[in-house]
Amino acid sequence: MSKVYINKHPLVQHKISILRDKNTGTNEFRSLVGEIAMLMGYEALNDLPTEEVEVETPLEKCMTEMISGRKMAIVPILRAGLGMVDGILQLVPASKVGHIGLYRDEETHTPVEYYCKLPSPIEERIIVVTDPMLATGGSAIDAISQIKKHGGKKIKFMCIIAAPEGLKALEEAHPDVQIYVGHLDRQLNSDAYICPGLGDAGDRIFGTK
Ligand code: PRP
Ligand code: URA
Repeated sequence: MSKVYINKHPLVQHKISILRDKNTGTNEFRSLVGEIAMLMGYEALNDLPTEEVEVETPLEKCMTEMISGRKMAIVPILRAGLGMVDGILQLVPASKVGHIGLYRDEETHTPVEYYCKLPSPIEERIIVVTDPMLATGGSAIDAISQIKKHGGKKIKFMCIIAAPEGLKALEEAHPDVQIYVGHLDRQLNSDAYICPGLGDAGDRIFGTK
């Protein structure tokens, strides 16, 4: 089964609590999503490969570690996943950024794909898929299936809030993917919204609706 990491860090939990508050406005919401992504990214990227390189300090030459391998890819699921990109780019500025466009059909709650553009070649890259919300899991499952169809292999998925139903579905559909969750919430409601959740993440990040 997938490896699931549920974040317990007080800073992340504090910031998530502010996100949940319906009185938190768009500006603050957007900044917090970026900050949480950066804090979660610090944990999620603790297995990035490194290599020893020679560097000359003002005192002497030494061998020291730097990130190795092909540049990482960050792939937000549009729209809301975009809010997490800058936070991760602050950690790994050389990353490439792909995009997958999906929206949930309001009646069926199943994802409808409208865009996919990934950095090429994708095969050897570590790929971090971002979306603040893992509800039924349909969007994340489809996005990761698309990435695999294009040849992606080393995939991590990062979300801020997950419902147990979506987490289970994602683990079953993609057991090879490492899943990083900011907070595991109670359940989905009959409209497939996460409870207590934070509402519609895309609308709150972009100030729509
Ligand atoms: C939201 C969210 C996820 C999806 C989660 O996107 O950002 O992508 O729903 O739900 P699921 O796990 O049941 O698939 P939405 O479809 O509202 O699109 P948006 O980001 O463009 O607002
Ligand atoms: N998408 C959201 O933005 N919020 C939810 O609670 C569920 C899906």
